[in-house]
Amino acid sequence: MSVWRHEPILAERIADELLLNNDGVYLDATLGLGGHSGFFLKRLSAAARVIGLDKDVSAVNMALKNISDARLTAFVCSYLEAPKIMERLNISSFDGAVFDLGLSSYQLDDASRGFSFLREGPLDMRFNNNEGISAADIINEWPADKIEEILLKYGEELYANKIALAVYGARRARKIKTTRQLAEIIEKICPHAGKIHPSTKTFQALRIAVNNELAEVELLARMLPKILLPKARAAVLTFHSLEDRIIKRAFKELVSSDDWRLVNKKVIEPSREEIISNHRARSAKLRIIERKI
Ligand SMILES: C[S@@+](CC[C@H](N)C(=O)[O-])C[C@H]1O[C@@H](n2cnc3c(N)ncnc32)[C@H](O)[C@@H]1O
Repeated sequence: MSVWRHEPILAERIADELLLNNDGVYLDATLGLGGHSGFFLKRLSAAARVIGLDKDVSAVNMALKNISDARLTAFVCSYLEAPKIMERLNISSFDGAVFDLGLSSYQLDDASRGFSFLREGPLDMRFNNNEGISAADIINEWPADKIEEILLKYGEELYANKIALAVYGARRARKIKTTRQLAEIIEKICPHAGKIHPSTKTFQALRIAVNNELAEVELLARMLPKILLPKARAAVLTFHSLEDRIIKRAFKELVSSDDWRLVNKKVIEPSREEIISNHRARSAKLRIIERKI
C-alpha cells in the first residue's frame, strides 16, 4: 500500500483553540490521512487519546500507518455515529472535536475513486465505497429533472437544465460510466468561464448528493450537545458556502440557547502563506464553538 499524506489545514490554530486539556480525549470526526490527529498527538500528553472516524476504509488504514501511535483509535463510520462509538469505548464525553469536512486531496487524486473530472476513472464518488449509490447510478438512472435539481441545489450550477438534458440524451445512446465521459458531455455544451472548469459544479453537486453531505452537516451541530463536555470546543472546517452557511446558522441556534458561545465571532481563514503552500486551503473557513455549561 503506498502511503499518502495530507497537510492538515489551520492545524496550529485548531490545536491552540481545541486542546485545552493536555490529558484529554479528543474526537477527530473526519480522520482522513490523520493530518490533524498526528498534529494533535504531538502536543498532547501520554495519557491523552484521539478517537478518529472516517467513512473511508482506505483513509483509516493510511492514517493508522502514518501515525502509528497507541493513543489513536480509529473506526470506519460516519461522524454521526460518534455517540455509538463513545458507548462502545466507554467514553462519556470528549474534551474537543474537529470536523474537517468534504474530501481529502488523497481521494481527489486517486482516479479510481471517481472524484476528479481531470482523471479518467469510474463515476463513483462514494466516501465509503461499500454502501450507498454511486454518481453513475444518479447520472444513468435518475430522471433529468431530479439531476437538474441536485445540480442547482448542491452545485448552484447556472447551466443545470442544459447539463441535465445533455446527460439524459447521451445516456440513451451509451451508459455514462466514467468521469471523463461525463466531463466531455459538459465541456461540449458549457463555456469555460474564467479559472473554473465547466465540470466543477456538477462534480461537486454529485459528490454532495452521493454522500448525503449536507444532511449530515445539518445533523453534526445537533450532535454536539451529546458528545462534548462543558468548556469543550468543536472546530468545523468547511470548503464551500453551502456547508459554511449550515454551520453558521446551526452555531447561531446553539448560541441562542445561552449554553454555548462562539469562540470566534468572525470566520477564520488560512493565511496567504498557508494558501500558497497548500492550494486546498484556499476556500477553507473555520468556525469554533464552546459549550459553556
Ligand atoms: C478533508 S478530509 C480530512 C483530512 C484530515 N483532517 C487530515 O488532516 O488528514 C475529509 C475526510 O472526511 C471523510 N468524511 C466525509 N464525510 C464524513 C462523514 N460524514 N463521516 C466520517 N467521515 C467523513 C472523508 O472520507 C475524508 O477522508
